[in-house]
Amino acid sequence: MNATSSMKPIQVGLLGIGTVGSGTFNVLQRNQEEIKRRAGRGIEVTMVAARNLERARSIVGDGVQVVVDARAVIANPEIDIVVELIGGYGIAKELVLEAIAAGKHVVTANKALLAVHGTEIFAAAQTKGVMVAFEAAVAGGIPIIKALREGLTANSIQWIAGIINGTTNFILSEMRDKGLDFATVLQEAQRLGYAEADPTFDIEGVDAAHKVTLMSAIAFGMPVQFDRAHVEGITKLAAQDIKYAEQLGYRIKLLGITRRAKDGIELRVHPSLVPAKRLLANVEGAMNAVVVHGDAVGTTLYYGKGAGSEPTASSVIADLVDITRLHSADAAHRVPYLAFHPNAMSDLVVVPMREVVTSYYLRLRVADEAGVLAQVTGLLATAGISIDAVLQREADEVGGEGSTQTDLIILTHNTREGTLDDAMAQLQSLPTVLAPIVRIRKEELA
Ligand code: HSE
Repeated sequence: MNATSSMKPIQVGLLGIGTVGSGTFNVLQRNQEEIKRRAGRGIEVTMVAARNLERARSIVGDGVQVVVDARAVIANPEIDIVVELIGGYGIAKELVLEAIAAGKHVVTANKALLAVHGTEIFAAAQTKGVMVAFEAAVAGGIPIIKALREGLTANSIQWIAGIINGTTNFILSEMRDKGLDFATVLQEAQRLGYAEADPTFDIEGVDAAHKVTLMSAIAFGMPVQFDRAHVEGITKLAAQDIKYAEQLGYRIKLLGITRRAKDGIELRVHPSLVPAKRLLANVEGAMNAVVVHGDAVGTTLYYGKGAGSEPTASSVIADLVDITRLHSADAAHRVPYLAFHPNAMSDLVVVPMREVVTSYYLRLRVADEAGVLAQVTGLLATAGISIDAVLQREADEVGGEGSTQTDLIILTHNTREGTLDDAMAQLQSLPTVLAPIVRIRKEELA
């Protein structure tokens, strides 16, 4: 036996033992020998705080101290690392800050907390000389934080685009496969347990925005700026647009995008058309995937389970191993929380949506009469918006036999969003445009 493996195991306290907590406990138990060989010493959960003591005991057995009061875990001098698995911005924030103040290292899967309060939390940890690790907060089991922070450290990262919410990807996959509308698929997803009883954060894009905010901070070395993110979910997507997109060679995905732009950083979540031939367009069901483009490496892709008990535990434990390896190192020699040293962060700003440059899918319900197409394309030409493709459906197909209305679908080339907004307002006021124009952004990801 070597010197390190004879060291006393590092002691871990879990705050919460739900899906991820129980996965963490089970995987640590199952793989303890291998994990010890990697970490240099054992890693043991010795204390758990849980609301339901009986349920907690049924998971961890008798050898682990189980308490209701999370503060008792933080106060225990034997505990080296506190794992926060409560979620949300409320009590979780207080407990994380208290754990840091008590000199504990922290592992958390709480994307909401870090995306909103990360600056305060990382500053407190820096002052105290403790680590805060959060691999599980983004894309569940995919080691994307590690890849961005360490594996790609040579690069000037240019852009990241990710499917980072499994619930919405499942819903979109079902809508496309079965031609169903959003509300029907959401109900089905809830019945199958793919969507929460209150799915608001997922379907409105908030969860994905938390995650892309964290990736953006790490990729570009800027403070977390969730409040500047553009957040749009999938609730307004019509089955019809998924079908038209498919006819044009695209799939619609909810993407979290962050990109280095001329005057700052783009930070946005919204449904996007993605060319069907891209790997990202073929990520189906509840799976997650992230594409990162670095100047040296080119385009890289990370794919895997974005949620679930053991996939997320895989990331929590990776953080536990990292902390175990590094906790005795001088704080200045550890990997910085957000990849860049705290005194070397940039002051890059998030650019307003009107300054974002991308391409667009537009669907206009128009009167099927002479000159309408010319009117619409003429107006776009005057605005300097270049058209990439046009699809016009037969009126009968759109509105039934004898219909006098049809759908005009236009794909544009890259355009400044503000220019497109203004042109859309003009198009909308044409008497021949009969319904609100549908606009979905399009990312070629080339
Ligand atoms: N609710 C998230 C999802 C998983 O659907 O991907 C946790 O972030």
